[in-house]
Amino acid sequence: MKPTNTSITLAPMTTLRISDGLIKDDVLVVGLVSTNTKGGLAIESGEYGLNTENIVVALSEMGATGKVDEVTKFPGGPTRMLVFTGLGKQSSEYGHETLRRAAGAAARTLTGTSSATFALPSSDLDSLSAIAEGVALGAYVFTEFKGTSKSENKNALKSATIFSSLGSKGEAKDIVTRAKIIAQYTHLVRDLINTPPSHLTPDSFTRKLVAEIRSAGGVKVGLRSTVWDDKQLKSQGFGGIVGVGQGSANPPRLLHISYTPKVKAHKRYALVGKGITFDTGGLNLKPGIGMERMKSDMSGAAAICAATIAIAQLGLPIAIEAWAPLAENMPSDTATRPSDVITIYGGKTVEVLNPDAEGRLILADALVKAQASKNNLDGIIDVATLTGAQVVALGTRTGAVMTNNQEFSEKFLAAAQLAGEQFWPMPLPVELRASLDSPVADLANIGEKNGGMLVAGLFLKEFVSDALPWLHIDIAGPAYNEGKAHGYTPVGGVGIALRSIVRLVEAG
Ligand code: BES
Ligand code: MN
Ligand code: ZN
Repeated sequence: MKPTNTSITLAPMTTLRISDGLIKDDVLVVGLVSTNTKGGLAIESGEYGLNTENIVVALSEMGATGKVDEVTKFPGGPTRMLVFTGLGKQSSEYGHETLRRAAGAAARTLTGTSSATFALPSSDLDSLSAIAEGVALGAYVFTEFKGTSKSENKNALKSATIFSSLGSKGEAKDIVTRAKIIAQYTHLVRDLINTPPSHLTPDSFTRKLVAEIRSAGGVKVGLRSTVWDDKQLKSQGFGGIVGVGQGSANPPRLLHISYTPKVKAHKRYALVGKGITFDTGGLNLKPGIGMERMKSDMSGAAAICAATIAIAQLGLPIAIEAWAPLAENMPSDTATRPSDVITIYGGKTVEVLNPDAEGRLILADALVKAQASKNNLDGIIDVATLTGAQVVALGTRTGAVMTNNQEFSEKFLAAAQLAGEQFWPMPLPVELRASLDSPVADLANIGEKNGGMLVAGLFLKEFVSDALPWLHIDIAGPAYNEGKAHGYTPVGGVGIALRSIVRLVEAG
């Protein structure tokens, strides 16, 4: 079967600016909070003076509470429409993530609107930055695959002004630029996740990324890419990627993106991302109910590739080696059978007891290749929608971090905290390792059921040098939002891990 040729077009980005001039936009967004008095409400409009007395009474009568994620709209005010976005309890200072979410929640409800001014409390540049990010992240729609009903779908908010007197300062310009880059590449991750597997194959994934690298400036910004096709993967010994991909008519690929900064790199990180464009479970076929979620099984690959381009666009002084092993996990007469033995890049053999534990197989190849290609790495991070056990353990909004290096893990968690992404550290208990022993090969691809997320981490640990700081990030839960949209997070692809990785690199 011929793989479908696809081009994914990015939705146009929201124009973003910072200004405290006369408001010319159609909509004014302000914060709404609950006060200490019972049922009391107050408006938080930052530096913008809004006469609020009557409005607060009306809002209260309408049943508004100022709770986080509550957005109330009404016509009138200094613009055509006033939008109140909940900031929770009144405070002298609002957390960055509270502001990011409130700005995002409002932007999300403003599809179809052409322009809006956001007047929210921002005491410092970091708050302003969070608001800018929230607006840009919230202004997202995915209508690529709407056919005859496309015209019924509204566009994302076109133009946003953040009301602040910092508008003329150089720092403000940097804030806007950074927010745009973060949002543009988060949107790329979301688009890739949301693109159905009929249109996103290992091959089309690499083409899309190569095109993105080109439009980002390519070698001019220090970005280079290399793609291995199925023949090369086979002849060069990538037994994990080949074994997982061999059941599909859409052959596997390995994508490498490198970023070399203009200045001498302060550090060099390798990023590895799981790129299963669809996970049926292979011959260990998954149940039909919920299988559609498995179009998101390439979220890790999308996040690390997009993060690398974002880091290049920001011109950060850290070198990145990104590796995305890509395959479609399908059942067929050519698929890997339970009990087959494959040889991972570098020579370790694995008995595939369960073809549905495929992510660790393609990641093992890529982890070994990443370490073999550069001997001066300062750290290696893999990002993967790896286990259902991750979702059981931490739910749908929090990712897991496992490591061989406490300091590196703490550094990542601190970056994630600043980025407003939820991650939690998990152990790699040695006693679980023996459950991965195989009577015929070096390792089996499944072990003890209990603590399945940790067992998967221990499997990957076998392919990483103890001397190299390593993080294994399981995002099975938070990569894809099957619930309601909230804050700046839409339904479907979320784009998690990109912001934490960029922050980690920004931290130096
Ligand atoms: N892609 C899945 C993990 C997953 C599950 C991601 C739910 C997102 C939501 C992975 O390839 C998988 O199938 N893992 C198995 C491993 C098991 C066979 C050891 C699982 O978690 O059931
Ligand atoms: Mn699987
Ligand atoms: Zn999978």
